[in-house]
Amino acid sequence: MALSTHTNNLTILSITGHGRRRRRRRPSTVVKMASSSPPSSSNLSSSNVYEEGQLERPKWSGETPLSRLVGALISFKPLYSLLKLGARQVLISTAEKGNIPWREMTKEILESDVYKEMDSVQNPSIVYPDYYLNPFHAYDEGNLSWLAAAEAEAATMSVGKRAIPNASSTKEANEIVRQNWLSAVEQHLQQYSGNVMVGDILDIGCSVGVSTRGLADKFPSARVTGLDLSPYFLSVAQFKEKKRSPRTNAIRWIHANGEDTGLPSDSFDLVSIAYVFHECPERAIIGILREAFRVLRPGGTLAVTDQAPKSKVIQELSPVLFTLMKSTEPFLDEYYQTDLEGRMKEAGFVNIETSLTDPRHRTVTATVPF
Ligand SMILES: C[S@@+](CC[C@H](N)C(=O)[O-])C[C@H]1O[C@@H](n2cnc3c(N)ncnc32)[C@H](O)[C@@H]1O
Repeated sequence: MALSTHTNNLTILSITGHGRRRRRRRPSTVVKMASSSPPSSSNLSSSNVYEEGQLERPKWSGETPLSRLVGALISFKPLYSLLKLGARQVLISTAEKGNIPWREMTKEILESDVYKEMDSVQNPSIVYPDYYLNPFHAYDEGNLSWLAAAEAEAATMSVGKRAIPNASSTKEANEIVRQNWLSAVEQHLQQYSGNVMVGDILDIGCSVGVSTRGLADKFPSARVTGLDLSPYFLSVAQFKEKKRSPRTNAIRWIHANGEDTGLPSDSFDLVSIAYVFHECPERAIIGILREAFRVLRPGGTLAVTDQAPKSKVIQELSPVLFTLMKSTEPFLDEYYQTDLEGRMKEAGFVNIETSLTDPRHRTVTATVPF
């Protein structure tokens, strides 16, 4: 996919019809993405592309009556178990209907030599934060299991497909989501650091490495580090990376807590945190932001991408969907209540800018002052 960026304008890719892409530009200082022009195709359901809803955040989050009702339903154990199972089934069947071979991809990893990677990636002295040891995403061991690790890439692909449902393929949907995020990062770098040739990149919460590989492809001369709390996810990341042709700069994988990485201060030009914060309590979000500020060099860039509370699509999710979603995402409410930009400011960041980079996700970029 060809993508051009300009010093003062960002090209954002979106779908305007079946398989058709439209180039859209926004001035570099724009804080929100306006809605796209009307859809040109009758089968297009993405008329809400990049559109903000009326509210600050969805009414199914926080202290609203609807949110409390969903919370009460989820906290009733027998119902929770059913919902958890239902959520998992919906996830897999929706993915497979969208041509994501979920079960095949999982089997391929589980039947591979991935297990051999564990010894070289695992940090035996790691102390997991409490929140990380709870059941999560319908896995009893949360992210600390081979099944969660084997299914992670298919789950990631589903996120892209859900964001751009009218893309001609899952691959295209994911390319759009990832390219738009990387374009927002690149634009921020160009505007505030005057330097897109970043030398050192840290990807906090890298999971099985999809975001890390995206960063390494986008910035081929940079030294890229992927950091995660799950040694299972990191094993898959390392295994997959070994299977592809070698890079000039091999990706380094680190098993650590993003709140306390153990990495030297002032050692990165770009810290990326992609799709991590909706899985974290607010105290972890604050801790990770502080740590990102510490490890970034003056002038360095922070890029957070994740679900957008202001997204019209997210605000209008059906009750069934958001109840299922909340049943496997224990910190979703906290995430939607968190003033992310405010927390970034408190951590010391400046030039904080937010844009909807796809119909469901925002990218928030910021700089460490010189
Ligand atoms: C949805 S995944 C991220 C996906 C990935 N960045 C991408 O864009 O494909 C969220 C990740 O955050 C990790 N995580 C959660 N809390 C963390 C923490 N405190 N430190 C490091 N990683 C954390 C989880 O283990 C999980 O792999």
